[in-house]
Amino acid sequence: LREHEEFTKVKNIATIELGRYEIETWYFSPFPPEYNDCTKLFFCEFCLNFMKRKEQLQRHMRKCDLKHPPGDEIYRNGTLSMFELLKALCASLKALRLFKTEVDGKKNKVYGQNLCYLAKLFLDHKTLYYDVDLFLFYVLCECDDRGCHMVGYFSKEKHSEESYNLACILTLPPYQRKGYGKFLIAFSYELSKKEGKVGTPERPLSDLGLLSYRGYWTRVLLDILKKHKGNISIKELSDMTAIKAEDILSTLQSLELIQYRKGQHVICADPKVLDRHLKAAGRGGLDVDVSKLIWTPYK
Ligand code: ACO
Ligand code: ZN
Repeated sequence: LREHEEFTKVKNIATIELGRYEIETWYFSPFPPEYNDCTKLFFCEFCLNFMKRKEQLQRHMRKCDLKHPPGDEIYRNGTLSMFELLKALCASLKALRLFKTEVDGKKNKVYGQNLCYLAKLFLDHKTLYYDVDLFLFYVLCECDDRGCHMVGYFSKEKHSEESYNLACILTLPPYQRKGYGKFLIAFSYELSKKEGKVGTPERPLSDLGLLSYRGYWTRVLLDILKKHKGNISIKELSDMTAIKAEDILSTLQSLELIQYRKGQHVICADPKVLDRHLKAAGRGGLDVDVSKLIWTPYK
């Protein structure tokens, strides 16, 4: 019921200010009732606290001493960084403790919750996870001398029964279509490889989510098939990429690279067909340099 209510509610916040951007929102997000009377919110781009008035934000910015998301930097390549957020890491931060209007009384969850409120403005089919305890957040930033500016994130269940390796993914609108989405997707699979597991995104996917995943799966699989000599099975592809077998099958089927022979799916990778698809697949985007990922699986 609660889910249904959220789906049918009308958009309340029309714009947000975040860092140097003013961003138009896409969907309803269930901000606490005291924000019901405003159409614009002002976010601190570092701790993600949100305020009703510009002056409040300006006052906050003079005191907020965060310059990056409150977590461990687990990846850095040039100006790009990834931060992993566990709730415990948010707890120690003075900025959050001193200046946060409480959401649910548990201070250490505040950053994760603020991120969920923000993300919901651009996600229509997802329910918010109030219990951020169960999730890890991976926040992608562009860094400069003023700090690390969030461009997007994905969340991930700590323990998924369904082998989900990503729950929600978002690139903030000013940063979309630059390859960050596929970077985040690639990153989620790199984590799965380190865990020795296959993964798949939580369903349902949005239209843009599906396009991005299809693009990622297509490119990864075509690259392997192009280089590989001789036969290769879906299981082998799955072991190499951490992409779940079903997703490999559906991608190869949509590329018409699968035949069904004697009750089995067989990959038919005609080099000419591969080249045609590779050309159509477009740019590869930003790669994850695994040598720059410093991470051990969360226990
Ligand atoms: N129109 C057409 N195709 C698009 C568009 C668009 N507006 N946006 C992305 N795509 C496709 C393209 O094929 C693109 O590849 P290309 O640029 O090489 O052609 C591909 O998706 C990925 O593009 P990226 O630049 O890597 O991805 P981006 O940084 O824009 O992020 C994302 C993609 C995360 C889905 C973004 O659109 C977004 O945040 N959307 C709102 C939230 C959302 O829908 N999230 C997914 C929900 S499903 C889930 O969370 C499991
Ligand atoms: Zn702040």
